[in-house]
Amino acid sequence: MERVISGIRPTGNLHLGNYFGAVKNFVRMQDEFECMFFIADWHSLTTHPTPDNIRRSAKTILAEYLACGIDPNKAPIYVQSDVKEVLELYLYLNMNAYLGELERVTSFKEKVRQQPDNVNAGLLTYPSLMAADILMHKADKVPVGKDQEQNMEMARLFARRFNRIYNVEYFKEPQSFYYTSHAVKIPGLDGSGKMGKSNGNCIYLFEDDKTITKKVMRAVTDAGPQAMNSDKPEVIQNLFTIMEAVSSPDTLAYFNDKWNTCEIRYGDMKKQLAQDICAVVAPIREKIEAYQADDAFLESVAKQGAERARERVAKTISEVREIIGFHA
Ligand code: TRP
Repeated sequence: MERVISGIRPTGNLHLGNYFGAVKNFVRMQDEFECMFFIADWHSLTTHPTPDNIRRSAKTILAEYLACGIDPNKAPIYVQSDVKEVLELYLYLNMNAYLGELERVTSFKEKVRQQPDNVNAGLLTYPSLMAADILMHKADKVPVGKDQEQNMEMARLFARRFNRIYNVEYFKEPQSFYYTSHAVKIPGLDGSGKMGKSNGNCIYLFEDDKTITKKVMRAVTDAGPQAMNSDKPEVIQNLFTIMEAVSSPDTLAYFNDKWNTCEIRYGDMKKQLAQDICAVVAPIREKIEAYQADDAFLESVAKQGAERARERVAKTISEVREIIGFHA
């Protein structure tokens, strides 16, 4: 069966956009592939050198993914820093990663602009650590967002280069996996593009009905349709797009009709939308709370995940040592 690995940044809580855009698809994938997921806590040191309780943050992310339906028996989840094996492969890959190519990575250049006082070597070698994450699992598919394409290209480059330098056919090139047919891009509530934490227009999965309803009722709208069957401006289309993800087809058709006949009342639509969002979020929130309250359980999931990952990568690491010429 094809192997899937993906890393999750431990910064920030999951929102509706993450859920429909990615996590729901992880849940789908765990039945189709041999999946593993991990929380990239070491990577986060490249931007947050002195994290405030990083273990806690990792477990919060873990609780949220479990609440969304990741089943650790199908798809083990581990914390990157619990599987030290990756460090060794990171070191080997770094020996054949060149300054020029690392400096040309767009996300590196962006970070240089964002944190000019902390242009650290970890930032520069972010792509080698990510490549090590992937290659040590011999993953076939890596579900990532478009923003990760360059890092994925680097992983493929490092795989090819390893094979060439050591004259082996060892690593295969991992492919980016976009769930184009299923991923739903959830727009923000402020009429400005995508839901994202940096845009401050999110509905978080941990939020209660009241908070969510308030946010939805405050969503930006306009003066209403000016003619029958007219195109929807972006702010209105956004509400319909969210509705498409969370509401029944009947509900969606009902409000579409109201739009087309110029009878729509945004207040009614938002009330319905808030209710349907809450119906999706509330059961997840309840699970998040239950998992968060059970630290021992979260620790045990992480521990088992790490054990499974270590079993899976041990062979790769020892083969790589042997290929380079060290004791296996
Ligand atoms: N760079 C990824 C992101 O920012 C996180 C990540 C780290 C990752 N290692 C990975 C993703 C390995 C996929 C595979 O989202």
